[in-house]
Amino acid sequence: MLSPSDLSAMERTPRAMLINSLPGYKPAMLVGTCNSKRLTNLAIITSHFHLGSNPPLLALILRPSSGRSERHTLANILENKSWTLNSFTLKESAMAHQTSAPYPRDESEFNTCGFPVEWQEGVTSPFVEGAALQVGCEFREHHPLDINGTHLLIGEVTHLSFPQEAHRCDGSLDLMHMGVVTISGLDTYLLPSTSQRFAAAEIDVAPRRL
Ligand SMILES: Cc1cc2nc3c(=O)[nH]c(=O)nc-3n(C[C@H](O)[C@H](O)[C@H](O)COP(=O)(O)O)c2cc1C
Repeated sequence: MLSPSDLSAMERTPRAMLINSLPGYKPAMLVGTCNSKRLTNLAIITSHFHLGSNPPLLALILRPSSGRSERHTLANILENKSWTLNSFTLKESAMAHQTSAPYPRDESEFNTCGFPVEWQEGVTSPFVEGAALQVGCEFREHHPLDINGTHLLIGEVTHLSFPQEAHRCDGSLDLMHMGVVTISGLDTYLLPSTSQRFAAAEIDVAPRRL
């Protein structure tokens, strides 16, 4: 059992590795952004989450710039008011991971890490060409969080593309079929190998497998 003082006594990196493991398996997507001069940027994040379906809202948590590193994704979203989320495959995970290196602002991770840029009508941020899941988000709200200086950004989904065969009759997407990767901690990229689906839960009704 670790106490709060044990945690604060830990070295920075092992503490970050431990705390990053606590949310369980996390989503993994590449965030595509650009500045007003269309200088592109690509970064891996795991902090995006579903905020609501009507309107369709996704949110993400971004760390602030610090003496150690600039945060180009945050600056671009605040400047250009949009971003894209792009899935990647397990085979692409090494280069997806590499996008987290602190490249200078004028070096695009799209080029350096080998993800081709795709521009789409009506979306001002770049997509990863060929990504099975491509989501375009328009900026809606920005909330700097007092507790640790991170930034909550809320966007509305304005563009969506995915393979038709992965779209189930009930509306959901078969992410396993699409090869969408998940992440444990900050360094482990995985593909789920088995799954179970259930109908919406109701009181006094036994869970029903789909
Ligand atoms: C697996 C993984 C997940 C990450 N998730 C986030 C995240 O959710 N939010 C964040 O601000 N940074 C996250 N990072 C760090 C960014 O990828 C990294 O800071 C990157 O350099 C930011 O790029 P930028 O300066 O071009 O925006 C993550 C890194 C890794 C390896």
